[in-house]
Parts: sequence; C-alpha cells; structure tokens
Amino acid sequence: MGIGVLRKYEEFLPLTEATPVLSLGEGDTPLVKSNRLGRELGCDDLYFKLEGCNPTGSFKDRGMVVAIAKALEHNSRAVMCASTGNTSASAAAYGAYCDLPTYVLIPKGEVAMGKLAQAMAYGAQIIMIDGNFDAALALAREFTSKHEVTLVNSVNPHRLEGQKTAAFEIVDDLGDAPDYLFIPVGNAGNITAYWRGFREYQQAGRATQLPRMMGFQAAGAAPIVSGSPVANPQTIASAIRIGNPAGWQGALEARDDSGGVIDMVSDDEILEAYRLLASHEGIFCEPASAAAFAGLVKMRQGGLDLSGQRIVCIATGNGLKDPDLAVSSVVAKTTEIEPTIEAVEAVALAMIR
Ligand code: F0G
Repeated sequence: MGIGVLRKYEEFLPLTEATPVLSLGEGDTPLVKSNRLGRELGCDDLYFKLEGCNPTGSFKDRGMVVAIAKALEHNSRAVMCASTGNTSASAAAYGAYCDLPTYVLIPKGEVAMGKLAQAMAYGAQIIMIDGNFDAALALAREFTSKHEVTLVNSVNPHRLEGQKTAAFEIVDDLGDAPDYLFIPVGNAGNITAYWRGFREYQQAGRATQLPRMMGFQAAGAAPIVSGSPVANPQTIASAIRIGNPAGWQGALEARDDSGGVIDMVSDDEILEAYRLLASHEGIFCEPASAAAFAGLVKMRQGGLDLSGQRIVCIATGNGLKDPDLAVSSVVAKTTEIEPTIEAVEAVALAMIR
C-alpha cells in the first residue's frame, strides 16, 4: 500500500502534531532504466522517473498533499489555484478527498482535455479566464490576498516542500544522487523543489554528491533563457506555456549552484522526444514532460559527453492527459479489415515476414 509522502518523508516536511496525515497514494513512482534510447545516445546509465504514475497523473500531487494538509491544519475554508491543467486536477482531487471547496482559474481553451475532465469530475469550481496562465496566476494571488482562501500554486511554500520528495526517492533508489537531472521548466517550482531535495538529502548524509540541474523551457515560452518575461508565450506543450515564472529566482539558483543550464527546445524537438519516449521506451508522457528528454538529445548533439554519467529525466505528467495531441501528432500503424482470419493474416503476417 502506498503510504504517501507525508508519512514516508515526515522528518523532512514542515509537519506539526496538528497536521492531518492524508494521502491519495502519491509518491513512490517508478524509476525506469532506459532500454533503447540511452544506448542510442551513448548514455548507458539513463533513467526516467515516471511522475505520471501519481494519483492524478502528474508530480503536482506530491506538493498538493502537503499544501492541502497545511490548509486543513490552519482551518482554511477553501483553496484556489491558477493552472495550465495539472495543478488544477491535483487541487481538485485533494479538495474532493478533504471536502474542501476548490476554485481553479484556467486560461480558456489552453488546457488539455484530460486535465479539464479531471477538474470537472472531481467537482472543482472552474473559472475560465480570457487570458493566459500568467494573468490567471496574478488574479489568483490577488484574490487570495484579499479573501480567506488558501492559494495552492507553487508560490505556497508547502507545495515545494512536498515536491522535493521526488529527489529523495531518486537518491533512495539509486543509492546516491545522479550526475545530471533533466527536467522541464514552466513556472519553475519543480526545478527549485528538486534542487532543495537533493541538497537536503546531501546535508542529511544520504547522498554524497549533487546533480547538475538541466532545465528546459519550450522555445516559444522561454523567459528564463532570454532573460525577460514573454508576453504571449506559445508552445504545443501547454503545461509549460508560461511567460513569467513565479519560481524564476529558484531556477537560476538551481542552475548556478549546481553548474547546470536552463536552455530551450523547439516544439519539433519536443514532439520528436514525445514520440520516441512512447515508441522506443513504452513511456507515454505529456509533451511538456518530453521537453526534458528533448533537452538531453539537444545537449548530446551539442557535444556534451555523457559516457559514464548517471542521468535521470523527469517524466512529469501522463500522456493520457492530452489524447488529442497523441492522435494528431503520431502516424499510427492502423489498418481496417473485414472480420475474417484471412484478412487478419494478410496484415499481421506481412509485418513479421
Ligand atoms: N510538466 C508538467 C506536466 C506540468 O504540468 C508542469 C507545470 C511542468 C512540467 C513545469 O513545472 O511549473 O514547476 O516548472 N504545470 C503547472 C500547472 C504550471 O498549472 O499544472 P513547473
């Protein structure tokens, strides 16, 4: 039985006697060793952390469980977030579990269908705004500063506390921190959280080294790379379509303190990585998640020597969240036939001959 991150990493989290211990089974996600792509890239020690295996299909659950537990501890009556989709799905699920009314502000027409379906099914109050994520976050911040509603975006410090547990799990699984961590960057909370997790585990004597933090934004939404906010961010990876990340400073610190990089990948590179992960590794992740592996491919092509290096790529969310994109962007091997054995044989045997 999954015990959840509150219980599993209790000693590293800001819990008190009064914090309720709750869980939807978040955390303890698989770290899968690459079978094909690593070899093709000349990385013999490559792993993928499957955060899409969390209860609502993304890494957000790790932080949300802490944010919601703390909100309950402080007698909060409702929670709110702005979201490109995954945060809203997660907030809605934990809100439903705890009978806490949940308001989600989302950019109209920009959230993948699976994520919207989740927020609807979990019963959140969905507020669609005619604007992008950055505008939604500004409104959520203003509203929660005026009213007694808890903000559960990653500007809530408890979110990052929960999300850092993914770094702990990687070290627990590998016996030490990897040499490189590749991760997508949107609002820049997650890269900040991972860096904190690796440092805390090292300070606690559980890891001897720290990874280089390799963060990747989408080229049309890459404010940290360009050094200034992007007014109208554009990318197929809707989860990271963010022009003014709240965690900007944390991402810079992770990059500079670890000797890493924050770089960008094009939508074509993201889509190629998305297809390769599914068709060559059996990992169906979101396009935003594929930005991490796309970044690894880019670095390798740019001459980064990865031989003998231990590398972890974070697959942040489940591909099922954006089924429209899968259907529209993959050339599927589909054939329609009459329901006879001869017709099945004609197709199937041709494939193995
Ligand atoms: N990958 C996925 C699947 C995401 O949903 C997000 C962010 C990121 C990566 C980037 O993480 O923001 O911490 O740098 N999604 C947020 C949301 C913005 O509203 O669901 P980050």
